[in-house]
Amino acid sequence: MKPRYERPVIVRHALGGWDKFGAASALRPVTQLGHVPVADLVATYGSPLFVFNEQVLRNRVRELREQLARRFSDFTIAWSYKTNYLGAICSVFHQEGAWAEVVSGFELEKALRSGVPGPQIIFNGPGKSAQDIEQALRENVRLNIDHLDELALIERVAEQLGVTPQVGIRVNVSDLPVDKWDRFGFTLENGRALQAVRRLQRGGRLELTGLHCHIGTFILDPNAYRLQALALARFAHELERDHDVHIDSIDLGGGFASHNTLLQQYLPGEEVTPSLGQYVEAMAEGLDEGYQGATLPRIVLETGRGLVDDAGTLIATVLANKRLVDGRRAVVIDAGVNILPTAWWYRHAVYPAQPTRGVSEPTVFFGPLCMNIDVIRQGVMFPPLQPGDRVVIAHTGAYNVTQWQQFITARPNVVMVSPTREHSLIRRAETVDTLLAQEEMPQWLERHSH
Ligand SMILES: Cc1ncc(COP(=O)(O)O)c(C=O)c1O
Repeated sequence: MKPRYERPVIVRHALGGWDKFGAASALRPVTQLGHVPVADLVATYGSPLFVFNEQVLRNRVRELREQLARRFSDFTIAWSYKTNYLGAICSVFHQEGAWAEVVSGFELEKALRSGVPGPQIIFNGPGKSAQDIEQALRENVRLNIDHLDELALIERVAEQLGVTPQVGIRVNVSDLPVDKWDRFGFTLENGRALQAVRRLQRGGRLELTGLHCHIGTFILDPNAYRLQALALARFAHELERDHDVHIDSIDLGGGFASHNTLLQQYLPGEEVTPSLGQYVEAMAEGLDEGYQGATLPRIVLETGRGLVDDAGTLIATVLANKRLVDGRRAVVIDAGVNILPTAWWYRHAVYPAQPTRGVSEPTVFFGPLCMNIDVIRQGVMFPPLQPGDRVVIAHTGAYNVTQWQQFITARPNVVMVSPTREHSLIRRAETVDTLLAQEEMPQWLERHSH
């Protein structure tokens, strides 16, 4: 039978309509952070403003502890300072029992000054100076060795001090389904890790008791941790069996993903980020397989972004609306990539901080910098905003308040909101005075100007 004629139809692509994740107009405003109105926070501390939710910090680290306790009898969480070393943030983690993980003399001093005992500090990183090492050895800080020159340097300093410290070596497991971080530590698969152990033993000045390995960051595949843990467990077993080394701690580093979404990621982080329990389970499986019933050593984690990212929010204020040449709507806000460098990695979730009206359309959020690269978020469906409206940018707690730059604008206030709705500054905004206090004027220029 001849098919019936059907009239062709042209349907306008309905931007802002329903897709598989729901309707864009469902963007609900976030008017409170930790039950404190955004409007009150901005009235008290200004905009832009970083806000940390203490309860979220505590919930995350408690969750990690619970998951570890289900699988291991001996474990330690060491807070990764570089991720966020504001004193208030570190003190919440230390109150929850976390040690400190540092990667420079600067971070080491910060941890010691906050009262963390030396034996509860783990010192990693490829750039330790002789002074850093001396301080670490005097304070009984745990050193994880990154390269052979550092090994020799630690031996020299230990000799001068007349001590025989227990140390760890950083191992690079290169055969994993993640981006390679092989510039750190000694590679396992090509025999360099074993050579380092032998060299350490020949030196006779250091006692190797730990293996350390950090496989990268924002790892979305828990199986990578299973393979890492298995490789380290087998190596520890080999050292014990053939080389008279007893490994009493295995440090599996950090790298758990937060609930952010990477720029290249298709599905939103809220849906695909593994739970802390899934990561821990994968590690436990690898260790169980490698140890085959023998008692496990102490397991150390140095989790950073997975604990702090979700607890931080950046509030910003709308400065202007614009139209780009291609017709897209652009909104200029008062927070730029200088204070939110993670905008280069993530499609940060952005929400209005007040009820909105009107049809959502694809919107680009630009920061206030006079730089083309100052893009906070591309392609987000957003309802109309007016100058003076606020937006909140979610999951901004990791790496921003340590990697931010003083560039064109000054760094803003950072506050913490308590479980009882108290709020307080945890870092004061910088001003022109802050900068001027660091500057010096050479005398000859002074003379010239008067
Ligand atoms: C040695 C080491 N440990 C821990 C971390 C924390 O990583 P993350 O924030 O991905 O958990 C890092 C970060 O790069 C690191 O280099």
